Amino acid sequence: MSGSRITGWGSNLPEKVLTNNDLAEGGLDTSDEWIFERTGIRQRHVGGSTSQMSIHAGKQALDMAGVTGDDIDLVIVATSTPDQLMPGTSATVHAELGIRGGACDMQAVCSGFTYALMAANGLISTGLERILVIGADTLSDYVDWEDRGSAILFGDGAGAVVLEKHDNATLLGFDLGADGLHRHIGYTDHDGKITMDGKEVFRTAVRAVTQSAKNAMAEAGVTAEEIDWFVPHQANVRIIESIASRLGIPMDKAVVTIQDTANNSAATIPIALDTAVRDARIQPGDLLLLGGFGFGMTWASAIMRWEPNV
Ligand code: ACO
Repeated sequence: MSGSRITGWGSNLPEKVLTNNDLAEGGLDTSDEWIFERTGIRQRHVGGSTSQMSIHAGKQALDMAGVTGDDIDLVIVATSTPDQLMPGTSATVHAELGIRGGACDMQAVCSGFTYALMAANGLISTGLERILVIGADTLSDYVDWEDRGSAILFGDGAGAVVLEKHDNATLLGFDLGADGLHRHIGYTDHDGKITMDGKEVFRTAVRAVTQSAKNAMAEAGVTAEEIDWFVPHQANVRIIESIASRLGIPMDKAVVTIQDTANNSAATIPIALDTAVRDARIQPGDLLLLGGFGFGMTWASAIMRWEPNV
């Protein structure tokens, strides 16, 4: 069966780091102990721009794949924090990376990267050769820094992959879903700040991602025991632990980067993937489960055989 595979990857974080202690010393009524114990977060990177982080991560992915913008049929930027309302952030990325083909943004909040990966895989099956998929967000622009219930959670970042047509499918199963009736539990109005019912997001996320991961595994014909690495959305390590435990995946098979990055929305999964490939945890042949959720609520899971060189 023909399909696609990832041939290049990259990520980018802004230089400026805000630690939990910085937040507490800045006047937020919180502490490093509380934040780390409840979320797994120690710090977040802030001060990025969605387009610039996308360009840096995208360039790394192109270089790794050994291609240039001229070889790319489409760039998709998954983001809910575009530089401008119009045009899409993908237009800036398109210009700066010299992309030959099309450009569009995808808005599914934190699920956006996995949604975009699925869309790219589908477009490759209809004839496109090579797609640059980026997840990037600048949530620090939308954080209410006086709201301790949400300010502690978010940061900025970008991650990217090049997806190419391939003789064998490496994306073996997908699941995506949404429950728009839950759109009120997390939202940001135009010119507003992130507003969230943290407990309800937590509960809904655990339920939805667990079921979604099971659906994707069933579609791929694999079991949880066969998963080498769970690469989850990084929103709260306790959410990751709850999902992993319900799926029967031990935590030492989960890629956790949240301590350094906090939740940078559509960027978390490609950053976690990039991190675990670069530090050689993920090896060729490994079976990956990508899974996450975002405001909407939206959720998406993918099962992937990591075969960058075959
Ligand atoms: N520091 C210290 N105390 C705090 C803080 C803080 N930062 N935040 C809340 N508290 C207090 C509360 O006021 C409360 O005090 P009380 O008992 O005196 O009333 C107590 O701690 C417990 O608060 P809870 O809200 O019950 O804490 P919880 O354990 O649920 O943790 C959290 C809150 C971290 C927000 C958690 O619910 C969570 O992570 N939810 C998921 C949120 C999420 O993932 N959002 C992103 C979705 S992805 C996207 O699309 C962007």
